Amino acid sequence: MTLRMALLASGRGSNVQAILAAIAEGRLDAHAACLISNIAEAPVLDIGRAAGIPSVSLPHRGQSREAHEDQILAALEANGPIDTIVLAGYMRLFSPQAIQALGNGNPMRIINIHPSLLPAFPGTKGYEDAYTYGVKVAGVTVHFVDSGLDSGPVLLQRSFPRLDTDTLAEFRARGLALEHALYPEALQLLAENRVRFRYDSDASRPYVTILPAEGPA
Ligand code: GRF
Repeated sequence: MTLRMALLASGRGSNVQAILAAIAEGRLDAHAACLISNIAEAPVLDIGRAAGIPSVSLPHRGQSREAHEDQILAALEANGPIDTIVLAGYMRLFSPQAIQALGNGNPMRIINIHPSLLPAFPGTKGYEDAYTYGVKVAGVTVHFVDSGLDSGPVLLQRSFPRLDTDTLAEFRARGLALEHALYPEALQLLAENRVRFRYDSDASRPYVTILPAEGPA
């Protein structure tokens, strides 16, 4: 099933670029129905426009959270149908009400990429925080979004070493390259309908399982 995605991003857009490249190269069966940025001058908007994706800026500044979230919901509605909301460097938290509305009853509808091995180093500075802490193994996480801060169920994680010679820039570049591979892979799992939530009776949160790929018929 071709995934119909809305892309939400606030900045540079290298993950959006990686997702679009994966579609173009046939590694990801998805269609970008729209791109929304909360920052009017974000470079990601140019990436979206150059790719011919309806790309809108909906600045959050100067209005209430509720009014801004209503605008996002309206933009999604206008560009629907959308089955997956892909946060790619979207640097804002949604209210619990917006998560509810955006999710539309489906806990697997909103997905995010985070630059650490969650639950370590949530927040806006994953690479800096891991580097400063002095971890030996770092990583990136693709997870579903709930109303907490980087707290939703984990779909995929991949690790990378912090080398003793690493500068922060080198460390971050290695992580980012991993993000660019991991996010399209994660989205392709959704496109192939291979992701399930397992509700273990003694766990307070769902565990995400991945079904094996279908073999040739
Ligand atoms: C990435 O490191 C992502 O994990 C984090 O924000 C950064 C966005 O980078 N959430 P880009 O805009 O995709 O280049």
